[in-house]
Amino acid sequence: MSRCLRIFGAYSFRLTRKHSTIFLGIFFTLSVTIILQLYAYRHHEHPHPPRSVGDFNYSPGAFLRGRQPGNLSYCLFNYGLPNRLKWGKFKVLPSPETGSRSNYRVIYNAIQSILYLNVSHVDAVTYVTQATPEFLYHVVEIAKFWDGPISLAVYTPKYDLDIAMQILNHLCHCYPLMAKVSVHFFYPKRAVPKLRSLKEIRMSLTTVSTPTLETFNLSTTELLRRKLENYHNLNNNTRAQYIQKARKNKIERMTMKIAGTRPQPPTIKFEDCSSSGSENVETYRKAKLMTYPINVGRNVARNASTTNYFLVSDIELVPSIGLAKNFLKMIRKLMGDEKRDSGCVFPKTVFVVPLFEVERGEQIPHTKRKLIQMIFTNRATYFHQHICPHCQRFPGLQTWLVRPARNVLEPMLIAKREYPYHRWEPLYFGTNKEPWYSESLSWEGLQDKMTQMLEMCLQRYRMVVLDGGFLSHAAVTRSKKHRIRAEQMNLVNYRKIIQWLKKKYDDRQE
Ligand SMILES: *[C@@H]1O[C@H](CO)[C@@H](O)[C@H](O)[C@H]1NC(C)=O
Ligand SMILES: *[C@@H]1O[C@H](CO)[C@@H](O)[C@H](O)[C@H]1NC(C)=O
Ligand SMILES: *[C@@H]1O[C@H](CO)[C@@H](O)[C@H](O)[C@H]1NC(C)=O
Ligand SMILES: *[C@@H]1O[C@H](CO)[C@@H](O)[C@H](O)[C@H]1NC(C)=O
Ligand SMILES: *[C@@H]1O[C@H](CO)[C@@H](O)[C@H](O)[C@H]1NC(C)=O
Repeated sequence: MSRCLRIFGAYSFRLTRKHSTIFLGIFFTLSVTIILQLYAYRHHEHPHPPRSVGDFNYSPGAFLRGRQPGNLSYCLFNYGLPNRLKWGKFKVLPSPETGSRSNYRVIYNAIQSILYLNVSHVDAVTYVTQATPEFLYHVVEIAKFWDGPISLAVYTPKYDLDIAMQILNHLCHCYPLMAKVSVHFFYPKRAVPKLRSLKEIRMSLTTVSTPTLETFNLSTTELLRRKLENYHNLNNNTRAQYIQKARKNKIERMTMKIAGTRPQPPTIKFEDCSSSGSENVETYRKAKLMTYPINVGRNVARNASTTNYFLVSDIELVPSIGLAKNFLKMIRKLMGDEKRDSGCVFPKTVFVVPLFEVERGEQIPHTKRKLIQMIFTNRATYFHQHICPHCQRFPGLQTWLVRPARNVLEPMLIAKREYPYHRWEPLYFGTNKEPWYSESLSWEGLQDKMTQMLEMCLQRYRMVVLDGGFLSHAAVTRSKKHRIRAEQMNLVNYRKIIQWLKKKYDDRQE
């Protein structure tokens, strides 16, 4: 970045010396335009109606509510999964960027996408994403709207593999389009994933010994008296049996105590096929306060993509209708059939997809027409406008918004990631020719895509902003503090408060 800026600086200096009058003229017009624009912008902002809050409560997989898992699994599990993991039957590889020095290990293709097993690398485009187990449910929303393979890397230190398998296996019996998804696991090499055996699961279900109705009323002395009586009544035959049984009981209780001291994964109780219950699951990562190496996940899922082009995105982002199909059509048109079929890609070019975020209580839009309506009524904005205004504001945003919605995807403008967009972190369709994401950056540290963007700036990448498709995010759940503050500003809205109380009450119960 600094090199880019320096080059730009040197250039402009030389230019100013050579053509100072012209430059001054340009500078003057530019300043006037900017001032006028700012003026217009401010006066444009004021008359906006106050933000209203709808009553739609976004929950991924809500469309599966009421459906029960069937006998059939729509997924192709490998390596003995979902019930056990046969170590030695597969390769364990290091993470892509760091290689053999990496602290992370990868198990590729634990689940393979059946629907796209034989698809050629030019006839499809992959949705590349990553998640921790709590966020896995979002994948059904992507599977619903993405016409192509989905490559998903899941972070599974220790028993988080168990949690991930519970959720994935459940989904695979619930939703036929899970057949689009391939799943890869990655984990710190010191926290090897672990699956419980069926027996361990059964035992974990019986550890909580609930007193039966019959013995519930009896006092302890009464219980002891009964036991003694039983003992006296034994004859020579039954005594041996009794002693054996007692010994076995005791051993079982002891092993259970040992197992009980180790942290155990929760067993998720699914009411139906919707996500109820799996979002708040207590993962190993949370229990141990581990950071999430999001870029390892991105690289892993990206490396596992079997198609030339893919979109590295976040699991909470939902694609607009036809995004994958229209992208393939566009590439075919721009490149011509011959080049496309021989596997060519555009060198040093990526195709940027705009990101939007809806306000709380609003449904996610799937068409540009709907999105534009929502933006003009202040129910949607570009992604992270409130948290990180520079991260996703893209060049040509205003133009994008006024261009009419059509049912094709097309390049709108070519941008370089330079000032004032020097902190832009776009999501884009790219290929494996792009630099890897920096695996040392974690999600918690924020701005995790920055270094890759810098590298691409230095390599003078062209960023082609696309019109006709977009990704959208449900309302960002802010930390509790923020939520309370936001609530206080809008005390007038009675319904909102009731909703908030409901939410808060739920939290407490947990
Ligand atoms: C599912 O399996 C159970 C028992 O294995 C059987 O009774 C039931 O008919 C099966 N349902 C379907 C839809 O195949
Ligand atoms: C990418 O994955 C393949 C297996 O699917 C593996 O052979 C290769 O080493 C991986 N590349 C990197 C850079 O990790
Ligand atoms: C993929 O190809 C293999 C043989 O190469 C074939 O057996 C299999 O049925 C094909 N699968 C699909 C989904 O077309
Ligand atoms: C338990 O005791 C109460 C009174 O102490 C009695 O009413 C009740 O029926 C008893 N329940 C059983 C299961 O014996
Ligand atoms: C039980 O066995 C003992 C010897 O081991 C014997 O003395 C006793 O009579 C037996 N009692 C009965 C009820 O068989």
